[in-house]
Amino acid sequence: MLYLAEGTKKMSYWLVRGGRALNGTVSVQGSKNAALPILAATLLIKEPIRLLNCPMIRDVQNMLRILKTLGCTVVEERGALTVDSCTADSFVLPTALSGELRSSIFLLGSVLSRFGDADAPYPGGCEIGNRPIDLHLKGLKRLGAEVEERGGRIRCRGAITGGVVDLDYPSVGATENIMLAACRAKGQTTVRNAACEPEIVDLERFLCACGFRVRGAGTPTVVIDGVPEGHGTAFRIMPDRIAAGTYLIAGAITGGDVTVTDLDPETVDTLLFKLAECGAEVTRKADAVRVRAKALRGVGFTETRPYPGFPTDLQPQLFTLLSVSEGTSVLVENVFENRFKHAQELKKMGAENRILDRTAIITGVRKLHGACVTAHDLRGGAAMVLAGLFAEGDTKVLHAERIERGYESMDSVIGLLGGSVTRKEESIGEEEEKRG
Ligand code: EPZ
Repeated sequence: MLYLAEGTKKMSYWLVRGGRALNGTVSVQGSKNAALPILAATLLIKEPIRLLNCPMIRDVQNMLRILKTLGCTVVEERGALTVDSCTADSFVLPTALSGELRSSIFLLGSVLSRFGDADAPYPGGCEIGNRPIDLHLKGLKRLGAEVEERGGRIRCRGAITGGVVDLDYPSVGATENIMLAACRAKGQTTVRNAACEPEIVDLERFLCACGFRVRGAGTPTVVIDGVPEGHGTAFRIMPDRIAAGTYLIAGAITGGDVTVTDLDPETVDTLLFKLAECGAEVTRKADAVRVRAKALRGVGFTETRPYPGFPTDLQPQLFTLLSVSEGTSVLVENVFENRFKHAQELKKMGAENRILDRTAIITGVRKLHGACVTAHDLRGGAAMVLAGLFAEGDTKVLHAERIERGYESMDSVIGLLGGSVTRKEESIGEEEEKRG
C-alpha cells in the first residue's frame, strides 16, 4: 500500500480482461520450489555458486535478503545469480523476513550444518494451513541436534551425525531440510518415507554438482554420505511445473491453443491426464506440452496427493477449470487443511460449488461474469486470474502481490498469449478500505 495525503491510500490490483482465447508458445520460468531449497543450500558451500534460470519472484527476493543478512554476497545479472557464502558470519535468521517467507525454515538444516548453531523464528501458519514443522525438528534431533523452542523462536545446536530418519509423512520441506543438514555430517543418513517431488531431485542434482554425495531423490528413500566440504558450481534450475501447469490450464479454459516449452512433460503427468479427461487435446513433446481446448466436461473425482499424485499446488487452478466444465466434479484436497478460499471468490463470478471440509462439489456453469475478487493466497490468486480470463467482462483481482510471490511476470506471459492482465492502482479512502 502506498500512502497519499492523509486519509487516502493506493490499492494495487490486477485487471483481467475476459473472453479472449489464449494462443501461442511460451517458455516457463525457473521453479520457485526448486530455487528456494537450492538457495538455502548455498550456505553449505564456501565458494561462489552461479545459478541460471532462477525465477525473479518475491519469494526468491526475500530468500536473497535473508542470505545477505547472514553475510552472503549476492550478485544478480540478467537471468543469472551468483551467491557466495564464504563471508557468511551469522546463524540468526531475521524475524521479519523469515516470517514473510515461510520456506526460510529450509535454512535451518544448512545454517546448522555451517555454524553448528541456528536460530530461527517459528514460521507462522499461512493462508492455506497451519504449516507445522514438527517433522523438520524431529528429523534434525534424530541427527543429533539439540532443539529448543522458546519465545516464538527455534534454536538448533550441535554437530550433526548420520542416522536413519523415518518421516511420518512425506513432507517436502522436512525431506529437504534433513538432506541439507546431512550433507556435511559425520557418517551416512537415510531418509525414509521421503517426499518424491521433482524439486527434490533437482536439489539432489545441485548438491551432487557441488561434490556432495546424495542419491535416491525422487524415491521414498534418500541416502546422504556426509563429506567435509562441497565446492562451487554453476547450475541451471529446473522449469517450474506449477507455473507451466497454470498456463496450460489457461489455454484450456479460454478455448485456445497454448504450448509451454522448456518443460519435462513427466513432471506434469497427472495434470495432462486430467486435462485430457476434461476433453482437451494434449500433445506431449520431448521438452514441451501443447494443449488445445475443446468442449470441456467435468471429471468425476480428483484428489491431491504427494508426488506423483495430483499436485496440491494445481488444485485451485483445476478448481476454476472444473467450475466451467459441464457436469458435476468432486475435488478433494488431502495435503493442506484450508486450501479452498478461492471457492467463495469464484462464486462472486457466478460459479457453483459447495465445500464440505476437504471436499469440493463443483457444478459446472456455462458462464462466469467479471467481478471484484481477492487473491487469498498464491495459487488461489492464480486461479482467480484464470477465472477472469474466461469470464465475460473485466475482473479485478485484489492483493495480486500474493501471486507475484511465485509467478514471474504472469501479466507479460498472458499478454504474449493474447490475453490481457494489467496492473492497476487506485486511491481509496480509509472508509472504503475499512469496508475491504
Ligand atoms: C512445499 O511446502 C511447497 N513449498 C508447497 O508449495 C507445496 O504445496 C508443498 O511442498 C506440498 O507439495 C515449497 O517447496 C517452498 P509439506 P512444504 O511439508 O514443504 C504437513 C506453493 O504454492 N506437515 O510437504 O511446507 C503440512 O501441514 C507452495 O508453491 C506437517 O504436519 O509442504 C501439510 O499438511 C504451497 N509437519 C503437509 O505436511 C511438518 O513438519 C505437506 O507439507 C511438515 C509438514
